[in-house]
Amino acid sequence: MALQMFDKERTLQMRQKLIGQSCRLFFSHEPLKIVKARGQYLYDENGTQYLDCISNVQHVGHCHPSITKAATAQMELLNANSRFLHDNIVQYAERLANTLPQKLCVFYFVNSGSEANDLALRLARQYTQNKDVVVLNHAYHGHLTSLIDISPYKFWKLEGQKEWAPLPDTYRGLYREGHPNPGQAYADTVKNLIDEVQNRGRKISCFFVESLPSVGGHIILPPGYFPKVAEYIRAAGGVFVADEIQTGFGRVGSHFWAFQLQGEDFCPDIVTMGKPMGNGHPLACVVTTKEIAGTFTANGVEYFNTFGGNPVSCAIGLAVLDVIEKEDLRANAVRVGSQLKKLLKQLQAKHTIIGDVRGVGLFLGFELVKDRVALTPATEEAGLLVQRLKERHICLSTDGPWANVIKFKPPMCFSMEDAERVTEQIGFILQVQLEQLKVKGLAQGPNSGNLAVGLEPATF
Ligand SMILES: Cc1ncc(COP(=O)(O)O)c(C=O)c1O
Repeated sequence: MALQMFDKERTLQMRQKLIGQSCRLFFSHEPLKIVKARGQYLYDENGTQYLDCISNVQHVGHCHPSITKAATAQMELLNANSRFLHDNIVQYAERLANTLPQKLCVFYFVNSGSEANDLALRLARQYTQNKDVVVLNHAYHGHLTSLIDISPYKFWKLEGQKEWAPLPDTYRGLYREGHPNPGQAYADTVKNLIDEVQNRGRKISCFFVESLPSVGGHIILPPGYFPKVAEYIRAAGGVFVADEIQTGFGRVGSHFWAFQLQGEDFCPDIVTMGKPMGNGHPLACVVTTKEIAGTFTANGVEYFNTFGGNPVSCAIGLAVLDVIEKEDLRANAVRVGSQLKKLLKQLQAKHTIIGDVRGVGLFLGFELVKDRVALTPATEEAGLLVQRLKERHICLSTDGPWANVIKFKPPMCFSMEDAERVTEQIGFILQVQLEQLKVKGLAQGPNSGNLAVGLEPATF
């Protein structure tokens, strides 16, 4: 039986009535109703096509037929509790192990990034017998109570005094381009924090970090930062946890995992993965070393997860890995990502509002500033640009502490033509529309009500 289709207004009214209003919509003043999708294209209820530059979850493309086929075939056969012996979970773990350093070889399958990070915290705390966690400013690691607690992006809006290490941002951070060794300098800020905390008699369980800080504004880490921090954190009795929930599965192109950008020899103690893993199906995972997993087992408490690692989820996970390989999506990320970056840099040369263009593979961002010396964030303009792009049927979004970084994390099948289309439209808007609006005064502009979009960075 086909589901009943409501008109957009009715859907919106029902959503406002029935769904918690803290669950925000994209483009909240005028949300999109998307009814189908394919590859990197979304279609609304009228059949209008939108270019999707932001859905990092639909990693190999929306509704990829190989994923649908694998899911359906397994669903028709069996979907049972992972406490029955089944081949899918072990085959999937083995395939993932082949992408990771040898040391990371024990897997726990869960259903969301938050679950993965919560389990990673438990593993780290059990292994080290310590409690405190070092995180970076503006980080986000999930929506569970334990993770809001370690996510400055969320907790600075709540009560409570906490501390965090500065973002290793070489564009607007403490140490910038031109510094002789920003990796070492930023690692030393973590060391200082560790010392301070230890002097107060507290003990550190882990450094918890995204391999490329996404919510922090699509930051590309300076070379040498992770290995040095890992050295400091391990010396303090803690372990290194890499959150690859946004950055894993080949998004950076040159490597399968973004932590590998910090050198072939660098290996975290725990890695968490999620979003792209199931191409939209809820599938996430924690991988760690034999030693850490052994301590967790030794505490005698069974780890049971009803849905984690079920045969359907693992069949989907395997199919995602197959598509990444067969369609050579990492090479596509390198090729299209570098072209997109080049085109964005050309725009930067023309428009002073683009202060920085940064990224690797299909993890890219550009930062809007009111002036290139003081680096005053052009937050309203960024929101406006996103709004104008949506009117031109392109979905983009903002990120960063001031919501002034326009971020790209499209499905990995994003093409050269898509890159050209989006940069052409950005160029047009910056040239014509933003200039006009600036002259009129942004606050009194004809669409000033729309500026709310993008002011709050979106997490995904
Ligand atoms: C870096 C990072 N970690 C963890 C999470 C939480 O993942 P989930 O929303 O699947 O619980 C997110 C979600 O946005 C994230 O961006």
